[in-house]
Amino acid sequence: TAPVIDPTAFPIPAGVFAETVTEVQHYTDTLFRFRITRPASFRFRSGEFVMIGLPNAEKPIYRAYSIASPSWDAEIEFFSIKVPDGPLTAHLQNVQVGDTVLMRKKSTGTLVNDALLPGKRLYMFSTGTGIAPFASLIRDPETYEKFDEVILTHTCRTVAELAYGKALYDSCMTDPLIGEFAKDKLRHYCTVTREPYAFTGRITDLLASGKIFSDLGVPPIDPEHDRGMICGSMAMLQDTKAAMEGFGLVEGANNKPGTFVVERAFVD
Ligand code: A2P
Repeated sequence: TAPVIDPTAFPIPAGVFAETVTEVQHYTDTLFRFRITRPASFRFRSGEFVMIGLPNAEKPIYRAYSIASPSWDAEIEFFSIKVPDGPLTAHLQNVQVGDTVLMRKKSTGTLVNDALLPGKRLYMFSTGTGIAPFASLIRDPETYEKFDEVILTHTCRTVAELAYGKALYDSCMTDPLIGEFAKDKLRHYCTVTREPYAFTGRITDLLASGKIFSDLGVPPIDPEHDRGMICGSMAMLQDTKAAMEGFGLVEGANNKPGTFVVERAFVD
């Protein structure tokens, strides 16, 4: 089939990278992942986000996307929702291998190892596409150099929505670069809220009841040893942040590392 976007219809704007889609995988009606070529001069820290758009207008629309691939990877990966009338995702969901995606040159973000004080155990709390920055961080050896244990939590409405995270976790275990670290240190805790599953409930409720700790066989969160990163909807961030503060953790930033950090899963 012909590409949906004709890359010759509009000039490529100045100051952005124009990259080629190398892979597209759809998981559900609302979730997909895609990979693009990586510009040789593009550097970022695992966990950061970047603005992306499509060359389908004189002035393309850009949206913030967490980079889901680690900083050492030869390509750039994104994990996206599909919104039928979303200004960007309505078109982005149709991209095919060979199409062009625009990417602004500067990445940024707070879900980076530098924004956290050293600790023993790192929790990564995600809902929906909020898993994307953690997909980057759990594939970065630096994360395992800094922490003894890494617990990635992912909560979705349905079991089908967990597929990206499950495949990601499995691929980490066999990865030649991080497989040994991951086998030793990485744990994946998935829960579902709108249908039956082995583990159910919102992460905030599981933290409040302590069920997450008994399920994992770990002590409750302790500011001396535990660190948190949070990525999800605005409401999820607020509630999970309050839970972290309840355990005595303090929010950090790039210029002032703390015991937890927060970032919105942008596109919605
Ligand atoms: P629920 O099904 O109970 O709303 P969404 O697609 O709305 O971003 O939700 C993704 C996941 O995050 C769902 O499992 C949802 O649970 C959960 N969630 C939504 N709001 C919150 C919140 N304020 N705190 C914790 N989890 C939340």
